[in-house]
Amino acid sequence: MKKPEDCILVIFGASGDLAARKLVPALFELCRHDLLPDRLLVLGVGRTQFSDEAFREKMVQAIRSHSRPTAADAECLKRFTRMLFYQPLATTEPASYQRLRDRLTALEQQYQVRDRCIYYLATPPQLYPTIVEGLAAHGLAAETALCPFRRVVIEKPFGHDLDSARELDQILHRYFDESQILRIDHYLGKETVQNILVFRFSNGIFEPLWNRHYVHDVQILAAEDIGIENRGAYYDQAGALRDMFQNHLLQVLAFFAMEPPASFDATSVRNETVKVFDSLRPITREMVGQEVVRGQYTSGVVAGEEVVGYRDEPGVGAGSTTETYVAARVFIDNWRWGGVPFFVRTGKRMAARVTEVVVNFRDTPHHLFGQFCKLGAGRNQLVLRIQPDEGIALRFAMKVPGTSFDVRDVAMDFRYADLGAGYIPGPYERLLLDAMQGDATLYIRSDAVEACWEFVDPILQAWATDPTIPLYYYPAGSWGPAEADSLLVRYGAEWRNPCPALTDMAECERAGAEDEETAGGS
Ligand code: BG6
Repeated sequence: MKKPEDCILVIFGASGDLAARKLVPALFELCRHDLLPDRLLVLGVGRTQFSDEAFREKMVQAIRSHSRPTAADAECLKRFTRMLFYQPLATTEPASYQRLRDRLTALEQQYQVRDRCIYYLATPPQLYPTIVEGLAAHGLAAETALCPFRRVVIEKPFGHDLDSARELDQILHRYFDESQILRIDHYLGKETVQNILVFRFSNGIFEPLWNRHYVHDVQILAAEDIGIENRGAYYDQAGALRDMFQNHLLQVLAFFAMEPPASFDATSVRNETVKVFDSLRPITREMVGQEVVRGQYTSGVVAGEEVVGYRDEPGVGAGSTTETYVAARVFIDNWRWGGVPFFVRTGKRMAARVTEVVVNFRDTPHHLFGQFCKLGAGRNQLVLRIQPDEGIALRFAMKVPGTSFDVRDVAMDFRYADLGAGYIPGPYERLLLDAMQGDATLYIRSDAVEACWEFVDPILQAWATDPTIPLYYYPAGSWGPAEADSLLVRYGAEWRNPCPALTDMAECERAGAEDEETAGGS
């Protein structure tokens, strides 16, 4: 892989959680794999008054906790730490930006780094406008012949509804061209999400089946066993629809459903994903009760431990109606997908952490072997496992060895772990590298963000205004409210029983088949 050119990465919010948990450990990983530019300077910026030395110490602690360097990495860690610097900044104070500019100039001169700058906004989103205004007012935003590379990386949430997303975009576009803005969705940094594209567009055998003629339904699941951790105040304002569905899940859906792009570059790929969002059949306020199920977890047991219900989590209002689970039936009204239901669901405090895309192919037109009479049995199924136990599994029917023509399902699977010890970059590693390379393919364009909000907004509005739409409760450690099954019934589908590990899938399928046998289901 080509190393990016030298540059300076300015991290706003450097004394915060994201920098310590994700960004700096990811940069260290890249350093460990010799993927960073020969000269990358990382300038942390934040309210806290750190010296360079104090910042370095804090970041070394973060790396020790999150990257676990070994003795063999000692030299690399030393080299990496020398690239870290810190500049205190009050976001609303103009003089702070002046000092930031002076510091950047001094670093550029001292380390002979050309004026190539990436600003990473790892701050609370309400500070984005102030920061970009401050940068622009001090000549730090515009790209010129002398400083041809100035990019700004923005963390989600990009607004909390369509209007606020548009407003944020207007502000950003006042100071930065769209080509300079990188909106990060860490799901697109996941190896297995990117592999959806390679799987589809590098194999001759699957793509011909990837349409309404052969696909019965598609399920996208992102189940988490964790709760809201210490983010109650944020989460109670957001909920599962804003936190996971509007961004991560719709992006995965777009990779799954998009047309082949003309070439693999940012414009072509992002044009195709936007076309998917533009083709989503709107769920109007009136339809929300039928098409979307929301839930909230109550107390329960997760991985053998008792956990409190959502309303008892710190930072959450006692009578909160925020959803921690959402399941929706989604249609893509285009030539390829017309009529195929996409069942999309996500939740906190579910039975296990599983993210996967499941394709259920259409039934055989005639059931030659009478065993295929149970709902869904005999449907071939492809599982793209995003995490954990990343891999791909294909379920198909075979003859049970013996003198009869009994049929059962078996699974054939591939696991990433079997590929050996190759380096698989984590999402932030991949996306930071892309930002340094100036490659926006895996970053979200403003029209995509707005299209996703446009789809989600009526659901939010219906929930906020229509008290007859129920909020269902589910015990922590379950797979969510049973009412979500109603989304599938009409389509003759069932949720796939998600197993924590892909290899367990065969076990689960076996268990399913045995249940069937005991129930006399043939
Ligand atoms: C974040 C959400 O964007 O994604 C979190 O804010 C969620 O609530 C997280 O837990 C899930 O990411 P991952 O990579 O663990 O699936």
